[in-house]
Amino acid sequence: MNNADGEHGARVGHPGHPGHPDQGDYFANHARARQFPWTLYHQPLERDLERFLRGLAGEHPAGEVLVVGCGLLHEIDAAPAGLTFHVVDIDERAVEAVLDRGDLRITGGTVVVPEEPVDHVLTRQFAAIYAKEVVEHVLAWPSWLVGLRRALVPGGRLWLSTPNYGEPWLPAIESTVLELIARKSGFSRRQLHPTRFSRGSLRRGLLGAGFEDVAVRSTPTRLALTAWARAPR
Ligand SMILES: C[S@@+](CC[C@H](N)C(=O)[O-])C[C@H]1O[C@@H](n2cnc3c(N)ncnc32)[C@H](O)[C@@H]1O
Repeated sequence: MNNADGEHGARVGHPGHPGHPDQGDYFANHARARQFPWTLYHQPLERDLERFLRGLAGEHPAGEVLVVGCGLLHEIDAAPAGLTFHVVDIDERAVEAVLDRGDLRITGGTVVVPEEPVDHVLTRQFAAIYAKEVVEHVLAWPSWLVGLRRALVPGGRLWLSTPNYGEPWLPAIESTVLELIARKSGFSRRQLHPTRFSRGSLRRGLLGAGFEDVAVRSTPTRLALTAWARAPR
């Protein structure tokens, strides 16, 4: 695996890793994020992430961003010029697919072990980290969030998104229509998100992990949450 900084991520084949809930072969699902009706969920997240990255570029015009759980990195289209990106994922196919794009803004990629705090693998710090739709897959999320905080420079910025389980709308469609669609694609959503946040629990989790300036908001559809936070200065 290309790793520009000589850091050694564990090479695991796919998310069906010992000790981690079997989430099926989720890789095939990534392409959907760009298709209607999934865009109704993802577009507000990408717009919010774009605002976050614009703010970061104002502060660190050549800042390096760590993308945790990169998937196919669709959202890099929204990134302002000047920023660079190191990607990590537990699925080596995702990291390979992103590196194969040959995009000069991508400085490297690392395959990481599920649940392991990222600062145990990457030994340097980043101006910002974002993890779009990842924390809900992490059982040991308190130590995982601490790892994200430690992987930031002092005052570095964090952006997260996650499904909104604090209101009835998402659980209702997830247990019915989304489960039917998932079954047709060969997986189940039942264990897909072992960690489920509401606005309040995500805010408390980020404060508990030592983040400051924490702001958690629902998207206009109420289906997802976005969180902005900073590492202490
Ligand atoms: C729902 S997908 C989101 C992909 C992409 N960020 C997006 O929004 O389109 C979750 C991604 O996180 C990865 N993932 C799950 N647990 C992870 C962990 N502990 N560390 C890093 N990546 C993880 C999965 O392999 C998958 O690529």
